[in-house]
Amino acid sequence: MSIETAKIHFNELGTPIASDFDDVYFSNANGLEESQYVFFDNNDLSARWLQWQKNEFVIAETGFGTGLNFLQSLQNFMHFRQSTPDAALRNLYFISVEKFPLKQTDLEAALTHWPQLADLSRVLVVNYPMPVSGCHRLQFDLARLTDNAIGSVTLDLHFGDVAEVFPALYAGRNGRVDAWYLDGFAPSKNPEMWTDALFEQMARLARKDCTFATFTAAGFVKRGLKAAGFEVEKRKGFGHKRDMLGGKLVEKSPASNLSYRYRAVSQLPTDIAIIGGGLAAANLAWSFAQRGLNTQIYCADNALATGASGNAQGGFYPQLNADASPGSQIQALSFLFARRRYLDLLALGYSFEHQWCGVLQVGFNDNVRLRQQNLTDKRNWPAELIHAVDPQQSEQMANVSLPYSGLFIPQGGWISPKTLTHALLTASIQKTNTRVHLNKMLVQLTRRSDGWTLHFADGSQSDASQVILACGAQLPKNDFLDPQLFRLVRGQVEAIPAQQALAGLTTVLCHKGYLTPAEQGRQALGSTYVKQDESCDYRHTEGEQNLATQRKSLADCEWPSALEHDFVGRASTRCSTPDHLPLSGGVPAWHTQRQLFAELYKARPDDYYPLAAEIPDLYVLGGLGSRGLTTAPLLAELLVSQILGHPLPLAQPLLDATSPNRFLIRKLIRREED
Ligand SMILES: Cc1cc2nc3c(=O)[nH]c(=O)nc-3n(C[C@H](O)[C@H](O)[C@H](O)COP(=O)(O)OP(=O)(O)OC[C@H]3O[C@@H](n4cnc5c(N)ncnc54)[C@H](O)[C@@H]3O)c2cc1C
Ligand SMILES: C[S@@+](CC[C@H](N)C(=O)[O-])C[C@H]1O[C@@H](n2cnc3c(N)ncnc32)[C@H](O)[C@@H]1O
Repeated sequence: MSIETAKIHFNELGTPIASDFDDVYFSNANGLEESQYVFFDNNDLSARWLQWQKNEFVIAETGFGTGLNFLQSLQNFMHFRQSTPDAALRNLYFISVEKFPLKQTDLEAALTHWPQLADLSRVLVVNYPMPVSGCHRLQFDLARLTDNAIGSVTLDLHFGDVAEVFPALYAGRNGRVDAWYLDGFAPSKNPEMWTDALFEQMARLARKDCTFATFTAAGFVKRGLKAAGFEVEKRKGFGHKRDMLGGKLVEKSPASNLSYRYRAVSQLPTDIAIIGGGLAAANLAWSFAQRGLNTQIYCADNALATGASGNAQGGFYPQLNADASPGSQIQALSFLFARRRYLDLLALGYSFEHQWCGVLQVGFNDNVRLRQQNLTDKRNWPAELIHAVDPQQSEQMANVSLPYSGLFIPQGGWISPKTLTHALLTASIQKTNTRVHLNKMLVQLTRRSDGWTLHFADGSQSDASQVILACGAQLPKNDFLDPQLFRLVRGQVEAIPAQQALAGLTTVLCHKGYLTPAEQGRQALGSTYVKQDESCDYRHTEGEQNLATQRKSLADCEWPSALEHDFVGRASTRCSTPDHLPLSGGVPAWHTQRQLFAELYKARPDDYYPLAAEIPDLYVLGGLGSRGLTTAPLLAELLVSQILGHPLPLAQPLLDATSPNRFLIRKLIRREED
C-alpha cells in the first residue's frame, strides 16, 4: 500500500527540517558526532561487538529519517569487521521504522551534508525503496563496500507507524533486539510516538541484556521505560545538551503470548540440505550464502532447472489487486525485494538473461478495464510501481499497434528463470562451500537424534542437520506434507520464432496470455492452464490454444492473426496452493496440531493455545504458482531468517498468510472436517 512521504525543507545551514513537525532530522551543530555519541557509544556497541559470541547483532530504531544513524552504524560495523576479522559477530541487522519516508531525491539531497559518508550514502540512495508500506529488506555485503571485510549488514526498513509496526514484529520466545536507538522528533513536537505502548514493545522485542539510548531526558520517557522493564540512567547529553537517557533491560522473561501458528527455531545450523534444483532452492542457497553458510543441494534431475524453472523467459512483475490484501502486499514487497536481489547479482558480475523492459497489463476487455480503473482510483499503489496508460501511451510503450488502455509496471520485465537459477547457485558456490548434487532424487527421510538421514533413489544416503523441501510440483508426494496443501497445474509455453511484425516490441504484454520481446531468435508466448495433469509433453493442441488466446484477447490488433509458429515450446507443472499464496516455514506435525488446536473455534486469546508443533528441522518452501520469479527471493529470505532465529522480513499478518499450517488452522476455526 502507498504511504505518505515527508514534506521537508532545508534551513540556511543546509540541515533538513520536517515541515509538518517543525523539527530537524539531525542537529545543526554536528549531527554525525551526536549520532555517534548518543546512539552508538551509549549502547556501548564497540565493546559489546568485540565480546559478542553470536553470529548476528540486532539494532532497532524509531524513525529512519535520513538514515544517518544507520549509515554511521554501517560504517562502524565495516571498520569492526576489518579490524577484527576473526570476531564471532559477522552479520548486523538494523531494523528501522519510518512513518513518513523521505522521497529518494530528498534523501539524496539531505545526505550530501556528510561527504565522509558519500560512498555509503550512494549505496543507500540507489537501493532506497519506493513508498510502499511494509518491510523492505536491503542487504549490504561488506566485501563489496570495502576491502578486507567479510560479513553483511541487513537493513529492515519498515514503512509504517511504530504503533502498528512493532506489535506486528515476530519476537519469538526470547526477543530479537540487542540495542535500541530511541530516536524520533522531540517528544514535545511528536507526542503521539512517545507512548507507553512503544516502551512495552521495546521490552517485548528486546533480547536478554538489550540496551537502549535516547537523546531526550523527558521525565515521562524515563518513567515509561522503567515501567516497561528497563533500568534507566540519566547521562550527560551531547555537546551543550545537559542530559540524555541510556540503560538496559533488567530481566528478560520468555514471552508467553506467542502465536500458535508457527514456531521459530533459533539455532545455528551446521549441515543444511535443500531438496530441489529450481528458483526456490537457488534462492534459499543464496540467502544462506550471503550469511556465510554452506548448503548441500540435492536435485533429482541430471541438470538444474528442468522443472517449472526451466522456461527461457518468464514475466517478472507483481500481481496487484486494487485493495492491499495480504496477497497483494506479499506480491509488492516480494517484487521490490526480488528486483534488488537480481540487480545485486548482476552488479556482482553474475549474469542471467533478462530485460528490464517493463510489463504492460493490457486492458483487453470491459471487465479488465473496470478492474484496472478501480486499481487506479483506489490509489493503493504508488505510480512508480504501477500506473495507468491510455491507448496512445500503450502503443508508445509497446512499440506495436495496441489500441488498448492498460497498467504499466516500469520496473518489471522478463527474466530467464533457468539462467537465473544457475546464476544464484554459481554465486552461492563461489561465496561458500555450497555444493550441488545432481541425480539425487530424495525418496525417504528418516529421523536421527540430531537431524535427518536422506535416502536417495540411487540407494545412496546423506545426513543433514536441517532439511528444506523445495521440490516444486513434487512436494505433494512427500510423506511429511499434506497433499491438500497444493494444487498442481500443467502449463505449456510457446517459443515462437521472432516475428518480423513484432521486431520492435519493447515491453512484455500480459492479458489472458503473455508475449515477450525476442531473445535469441525466439519469443515466449504463454501459457495454458490444465488442472490435474502432471505430464510434461509438448502438445500441438495447446500450442494452437496459446495462439488462439493471443488472437482472441487482442482482437482489435491485426498482428496476432499473422503470428507464425513452428510448434516449439515446453510444458511443466506449476505448484500452487488453494489460496494462491506461497508457502514457507516449518513443516507442521499435522496430527499433533489437530489435537492441540481442536478448540480454536472457541476463539480464546492466542496465549491460551500452546505453540505450534512442528516436525523438528524440517521446512518447506513452495507453492510459488505462476509468480516464482517475484516471490521466491523474499520467501526464501523469510525461511532462512526463521531457521536462524534472525529478524523476519514480513510482519505477522503476512507471516500468517504464508504459514504452511494456515489451511489447517482455518479448518479448525470453522470446525470443518477433512
Ligand atoms: C508454463 C509456466 C509458465 C510460467 N510463467 C511464469 C512467469 O511468467 N513468471 C513467473 O514469475 N513465474 C512463472 N511460472 C512459475 C515459475 O516457473 C515457478 O513458480 C517456479 O519456477 C517454481 O520454482 P520451484 O523451484 O519451486 O520449482 P521447480 O522449478 O519445479 O523445481 C523443482 C526442483 O525440485 C527437484 N525435485 C523434485 N523432486 C525431487 C526429489 N524428490 N528429490 C530431489 N529433487 C527433487 C526437481 O528436479 C526440480 O529441479 C511459470 C510456470 C509455468 C509452468
Ligand atoms: C529526527 S528524525 C530521525 C532521524 C534519523 N534516525 C536519522 O538518522 O536521520 C525522526 C523521524 O521519525 C519519524 N517518525 C515520527 N513519528 C513516527 C512514528 N509514529 N512512526 C514512525 N516514524 C515516525 C519522522 O518521520 C522522522 O523521519
